Amino acid sequence: MKIKEIFDLAIKKGIEADLRGEEMVRKILERKREKYERLSEKEKEDFDLEALENPYLDSRILNIAKDKEIKRVLVGIDIEPAEILLAKEIGGIDLIISHHPLGKGLANLHEVMEMQCDILNLYGVPINVAEDLMRERIDEVARGVNKFNHQRTIDAARILGFNLICLHTATDNLAVKFLKEKIEKEDSLMRLEDLMNLLREIPEFKEATKFGAGPKIFVGSPERRCGKIALTEVTGGTEGSPKIYEKLAIAGIGTVVGMHMEEERKKEAEAAHINVVISGHISSDSLGMNLFLDELEKRGIEIIPCSGLIRASRVKK
Ligand SMILES: [Fe+2]
Repeated sequence: MKIKEIFDLAIKKGIEADLRGEEMVRKILERKREKYERLSEKEKEDFDLEALENPYLDSRILNIAKDKEIKRVLVGIDIEPAEILLAKEIGGIDLIISHHPLGKGLANLHEVMEMQCDILNLYGVPINVAEDLMRERIDEVARGVNKFNHQRTIDAARILGFNLICLHTATDNLAVKFLKEKIEKEDSLMRLEDLMNLLREIPEFKEATKFGAGPKIFVGSPERRCGKIALTEVTGGTEGSPKIYEKLAIAGIGTVVGMHMEEERKKEAEAAHINVVISGHISSDSLGMNLFLDELEKRGIEIIPCSGLIRASRVKK
């Protein structure tokens, strides 16, 4: 496979797994195209054309040094110049894949957050409430990512001649779909400890538990009932609005499953009587990446995990 084929496959898989449904994703892309066509020639010059095809602008092709057949990839959760040097040291690496966004993927992180409005709506929060609360938070994230040195790792890849891509929301979508299907199969009378046991069976989470980074109950106790479980904090860029928990409680949600949660949000969830189970950040990122990497493995590509990626293959051998 060539770099573009690998990237397009990730976007395709991400769309198929998108909680909003493929049709809604296509409609959003169509709407962007209509808006683009109405722009003046001057405005079109500055427009990011990838936005017309790729609904996850935090997933990007960042550097093509040599457009060759990809046989061996180095994959990590965070790729920094250190991992680029690592690739040089290992030798024979055709492509480096980062999970966390870099370059314009990072600069556009806030763009994918709009999907959180529809996911919240899916769980019963009125769309107007979700949009209103998320607007504030999206602006905050857009300003927050502004301070980073976006091109640092890409410069390292360019100098040392490495191909580099990042796949963020595209693979987080695979993690959320996987978890949603696994959890929804279970009895609605489940308690938090049952949910924890269910999560700990997943190889990536089982492995992370061994080094203290497995699933954790952030709010609630093992004996408490889960009630309706919402997977509102697994995909969609980064953490959403702290004001959302009260609205989720009104919408009938009992437990939120997320990848990570800051203290301010935890307190808000507590105040809204919502249980919170954190599946684990890097292990959940690994789950989504693995579901995609299996597609590459099936096509004969060798995968070398690094930078926190817990590689678990589901390819039948
Ligand atoms: Fe992450």
